Amino acid sequence: MSMMQAPQSGQPLIELVNLSKRFGEGANQVVAVKGVNMSLQKGEFVTLIGPSGSGKSTLFNMIAGLLAPDADGGIVFAGREQRHGELLGKVSFMPQRDLLLPWRTVLDNAIVALEVEGMRKKDARDKARALFSEFGLAGFEGKYPHELSGGMRQRVALMRTFLFERDLILLDEPFGALDALTRSMMQRWLLDIWAHHKRTVLFITHDIDEAIFMGDKVAVMSTRPGTIKYSEKIDLPRPRAAEIATTPAFAAIKKRLLAVVEEESLKSFEGSRK
Ligand SMILES: Nc1ncnc2c1ncn2[C@@H]1O[C@H](COP(=O)(O)OP(=O)(O)OP(=O)(O)O)[C@@H](O)[C@H]1O
Ligand SMILES: [Mg+2]
Repeated sequence: MSMMQAPQSGQPLIELVNLSKRFGEGANQVVAVKGVNMSLQKGEFVTLIGPSGSGKSTLFNMIAGLLAPDADGGIVFAGREQRHGELLGKVSFMPQRDLLLPWRTVLDNAIVALEVEGMRKKDARDKARALFSEFGLAGFEGKYPHELSGGMRQRVALMRTFLFERDLILLDEPFGALDALTRSMMQRWLLDIWAHHKRTVLFITHDIDEAIFMGDKVAVMSTRPGTIKYSEKIDLPRPRAAEIATTPAFAAIKKRLLAVVEEESLKSFEGSRK
């Protein structure tokens, strides 16, 4: 049992209650998310997988406070139900695209959220500088995003997310664009960072191995309308090394998740041919 494992009793940090989101009206209406119930305990690392278009980013945008949920459900954060807009600023998030500003140096990209929050530029820069070596970016403070590799850009975006010190961190496919080797290295690195900074993380991915490797819990989203179809607690010991993916325990979890995910992907493929 890991030290980071949150107690299962007590108040969750965040609770999604019958959370839904419809876009558009009448015949053109798309039900992107429907009746999602889910909770995250403080310190927990939860991964969310599901086929493309299943509503993962929509769910993410509602939790980040960027998108209002439909009125029939809601979000409870630290024990309080949140009205639309209230979550903004309480949650730290990294959207599906890294959104680095090309005209800003790496250092000044890292401090964007701190500046928006009103911190003095000098203080924000000092705070960010202290993290550069932990994030594998020492010496790159003055470079511009186009001078970095894909993996480094992702680390800048992650550093920016961690610098905005909130209990809950949302990561939307942070390693989606990386090659397999870089990705595997980044996964282990992120788990170290998480263990060190003790945050609660909701991590979206397409990759089943990644979902199992990273998570205390894996939740699977169904094809549209997106809802949580299955979830499983991952009791693999921490810290996790890459070899854990070759153990029978890992394979057994993967087999169960694959069955659910494949059924959903097939449905979404057939649905798109109609
Ligand atoms: N602002 C919007 N207006 C209308 N429809 C939207 C909007 N945002 C998302 N949708 C629709 O909602 C559905 C879910 O989209 P979403 O981006 O949440 O999926 P996803 O699971 O994140 O997919 P992917 O894995 O490809 O990133 C899609 O059918 C999409 O077209
Ligand atoms: Mg998405």
